[in-house]
Amino acid sequence: MASPRGHRHRRANVLQRAAAAAALLLALSCCCSSADPWPPPPPPPKVPAVIVFGDSTVDTGNNNAIGTVLKSNFAPYGRDMAGGARPTGRFCNGRLPPDFVSEALGLPPLVPAYLDPAYGIQDFARGVCFASAGTGLDNKTAGVLSVIPLWKEVEHFREYKRRLRRHVGRGRARGIVSDALYVVSIGTNDFLENYFLLVTGRFAELTVGEYEDFLVAQAERFLGEIHRLGARRVTFAGLSPMGCLPLERTLNALRGGCVDEYNQGWRTWRRAAARRGRWRCLTCATTRAPTRAPTPTSTSSGTPSTPPRR
Ligand SMILES: *[C@@H]1O[C@H](CO)[C@@H](O)[C@H](O)[C@H]1NC(C)=O
Repeated sequence: MASPRGHRHRRANVLQRAAAAAALLLALSCCCSSADPWPPPPPPPKVPAVIVFGDSTVDTGNNNAIGTVLKSNFAPYGRDMAGGARPTGRFCNGRLPPDFVSEALGLPPLVPAYLDPAYGIQDFARGVCFASAGTGLDNKTAGVLSVIPLWKEVEHFREYKRRLRRHVGRGRARGIVSDALYVVSIGTNDFLENYFLLVTGRFAELTVGEYEDFLVAQAERFLGEIHRLGARRVTFAGLSPMGCLPLERTLNALRGGCVDEYNQGWRTWRRAAARRGRWRCLTCATTRAPTRAPTPTSTSSGTPSTPPRR
């Protein structure tokens, strides 16, 4: 058996040799690649664009441009934005999931909202968000707070395609549309703002189960439509355990946090989606509703931002 001392000695030897090898490599790479620019150019993006549909979980600022009270253009929204606190219209203290996805794929760190006048088609060619906080799969949900219905988001997408063709030409536009990553996140408002709030009459027309089936059918219809328009790589986020959203926990604070009944709706909705069979639910097996959520820290009102995920 080697003594600890011999061990240390050998380790020191190995380290020395490794350091020498590293120095040699460094020297070689320095003299071989002196013509390369430094820093090296970033690798090309993995997809040409990120294109977003949905509700407040992914709305990067479209509601700022429409006549609704459901806006997040005031503090404390945006208080953690890089480069200084500024409310951007994201229902969040900072960036939203599509922004992180965009950056991770080598695209800009913020996905611009289609209706934001600060951006143009040259920006949208690399990423665009059609989402509207407060909207849903059910047409009636968007009506509750006068936000953009999902069919209108699709209209904006059609218009975007026309503008894109004019900007980059027909062939490149087709490539961008078919190779882009589509991020879709929608559905909680159909329950929270519509069905459970008893404001549209849906609760009287349909049982929860029937309403779930109706929503799943709307989702299928939407996916079929953007597929016809050229979308191929689509991620459709599952519903979050919406009884644990900051808004619901705040309203339910006296009775102790998450609203179990709403989480129940979330589970059955996912079962309904799975029953249709044509979708593969990638997260169903591993995602569970949290039994206890942290106390809400957000002071914001309105539709909450990033749903808690497990
Ligand atoms: C929702 O509204 C759009 C536009 O008016 C319409 O085409 C669509 O059929 C509606 N969906 C349902 C389920 O009524």
